[in-house]
Amino acid sequence: PASPRISAAVGLQELARAVLPAAAFDFYAAGSNEEISTAEAVGAWRARRFAPRVLRDVSDVDTAVELLGSRLASPVLAAPTALQRMAHDEGEVATAAGIAAAGSLMVLSSRATRYPEDVAAAAGPWWYQVYWLRDPGITRRQVERATAAGARALVLTVDAPYVPPKATPQLPLPLPQDDELCRLVGLGSRLPGWEQDPSLGLDAIGELHQLSGLPVLVKGVLRADDALACVAAGAAGVIVSNHGGRQLDRAMATADALPAIARAVGDAVPVLVDGGIRTGTDVLVALALGARAVLVGRPVLWALALDGAAGVTALLESYRTQLSTAMALAGAPRVAEIDGSLLHG
Ligand code: FNR
Repeated sequence: PASPRISAAVGLQELARAVLPAAAFDFYAAGSNEEISTAEAVGAWRARRFAPRVLRDVSDVDTAVELLGSRLASPVLAAPTALQRMAHDEGEVATAAGIAAAGSLMVLSSRATRYPEDVAAAAGPWWYQVYWLRDPGITRRQVERATAAGARALVLTVDAPYVPPKATPQLPLPLPQDDELCRLVGLGSRLPGWEQDPSLGLDAIGELHQLSGLPVLVKGVLRADDALACVAAGAAGVIVSNHGGRQLDRAMATADALPAIARAVGDAVPVLVDGGIRTGTDVLVALALGARAVLVGRPVLWALALDGAAGVTALLESYRTQLSTAMALAGAPRVAEIDGSLLHG
């Protein structure tokens, strides 16, 4: 009711286009190069069909999950996305408040435009996303600061050793809070130390765990062999992602990558997925393909732009309501009852 326009993620992008400056909209919406992976992401979920169960008692549906020690109202998390003050003046603080009100979890980008302490004060449970930079001292300082601020896990993004050309080449001016934050997250900096370190290897997983004492999830995995290597190196979770189609264009859709990774990893660690998840029914497909939870990127930015924290809450509520209905109609009233048998073919 607070956000009457936000009843689902579908269609939100066009509403947001009308309220955002063109440069901000283009930066958020863009994929890399020809944007083939970005364009294919949504359809890959929509292509799957259910084989629903009937005559189960679905009078009481529960979307709640527990994820690495955090109890969440639904398995829909906010993906880390950079530069949220371009969408709303409160930026990441409004996102955190909106997600907390919906009982979910935020992954805070290390390219954020608000301080981690301010985000933490507004947030429920949150994780901190890390890029390993060429100057590892910067990465360590960021991680120590996020850990002290109360991050419950780290998310190491590994699919971005270099940043490819975007369909929208010109990055709009970032809106950092002030100069100190610029230095913390590297915005506006031309120093070579701030680039992502392309020599990054599996060792980083253990190093980040040593440094923070936190579980380390690896984000940006599309192959079962890589997922198994990350688990063997100590990863506490794997996030199947192609970065919203913003890294290697023509990287496979995450809906197609997920099944083999979930099969290989089994119950060793949670497997999460993101990319093009736009309805609660997409979430049901992802869980049936083996994901323990999903992350949503651009729709959170659109909701933030349209209605701040209230918009983000309404968005997450719409995913939860749609998932709840889909679970009831599929005959799986508990998240633990969702499995591959619910899918046809
Ligand atoms: C991202 N993504 C991202 N990932 C990350 O690890 N660190 C980051 O700072 C960012 N920044 C970022 C900015 C913008 C504008 C977008 C759209 C995406 C990737 C993000 O976490 C996620 O993988 C995708 O956005 C998921 O796809 P959808 O839901 O946007 O289709």
